Amino acid sequence: MTDQASEGIEIDQMELRKALGAFVTGVTVVTTREADGTPRGFTANSFTSVSLDPPLVLICIGTSALSLPVFQTCGHFAINILAEDQTETSSVFASKAPDKFEQAAWHPGPQGSPVIDGAAAWLECAMHSQVEAGDHVILIGRVIGFDHSPSNPLGFCRGSYVNFALERQAVAAAGQAAQVGAILEANGRLLLVEDGDGYVLPVGDRLGAGADPGSLIANLDRLGIRADISFLYAVFESSEGRGLSVYYRGDVLGGPAPDAPAALIPFDEVPIDRLPDNGLRQLVRRYISERVENRFGIYVGDSERGKVQTLSDEPLNSPGWS
Ligand SMILES: Cc1cc2nc3c(=O)[nH]c(=O)nc-3n(C[C@H](O)[C@H](O)[C@H](O)COP(=O)(O)O)c2cc1C
Repeated sequence: MTDQASEGIEIDQMELRKALGAFVTGVTVVTTREADGTPRGFTANSFTSVSLDPPLVLICIGTSALSLPVFQTCGHFAINILAEDQTETSSVFASKAPDKFEQAAWHPGPQGSPVIDGAAAWLECAMHSQVEAGDHVILIGRVIGFDHSPSNPLGFCRGSYVNFALERQAVAAAGQAAQVGAILEANGRLLLVEDGDGYVLPVGDRLGAGADPGSLIANLDRLGIRADISFLYAVFESSEGRGLSVYYRGDVLGGPAPDAPAALIPFDEVPIDRLPDNGLRQLVRRYISERVENRFGIYVGDSERGKVQTLSDEPLNSPGWS
């Protein structure tokens, strides 16, 4: 959508959201109580610390939030900075569910604002001031109580949750990886590379660059494929003796070249049984089912067993949140 800004500059809102989404944030749940004590809350990544003396923080609440009138009239509110294992809590409070607080463990803070159990930190605030700003209201709070735990915080970037601890593990693993591959898609189709009478995913011996022979990017270049490789998807030890594999996920922006031995195949037609080994078959099966449900995880383990840390890229599709 294109908007005519007051200074005559055309702003493409989708592109603006993409630009804003490059800013990595944490994820908070902002809570308060209605006059009758009913707890209310919503997920927010617009949290910023403002001042240490006096201790001020801010959060922006959308004018379409059902809880806006409650926050505009409350005396106190709490900002709960979520821990890395609280993606479900984030999703619950990003919804319009009437029973959000029945789906999360919480207790009252010193002034009664709901404090979410297991959060990386929480700050209870007295309302300091409010500023109307476009389609949001900025709530500025004076911190009157807080606590923090050693839990790793949950991150958010480009519409997906980021688990910093897992990313660190994977980056360390990528240094020793024997194979770096990519699951790339365009318009509901998965990119597969022809290999004899079967298919494989594009791979290289490292991520690399175009001028780096043997690297994933150079191999994609040779197939005429331009890709945006955005997220880590899986790290696993191959049971077929190929060592450590690291797979990213992303989008095909251009290609493949017409004569290249590669094809974009609709998700429901991907010939899983023509992939060469069990690890790859499981990886592609999981990708397709997560893509259909629009939920992603980072897999860390071996090709038989491992842990999937579930992430969700649902926010990409919800209006307003980059
Ligand atoms: C990661 C993430 C960050 C969000 N950040 C904000 C935010 O800063 N401000 C806001 O008003 N809504 C934000 N939202 C959307 C609200 O959580 C969502 O609109 C929610 O339904 C509002 O709840 P309510 O309508 O019950 O008040 C965010 C959602 C997600 C998933």
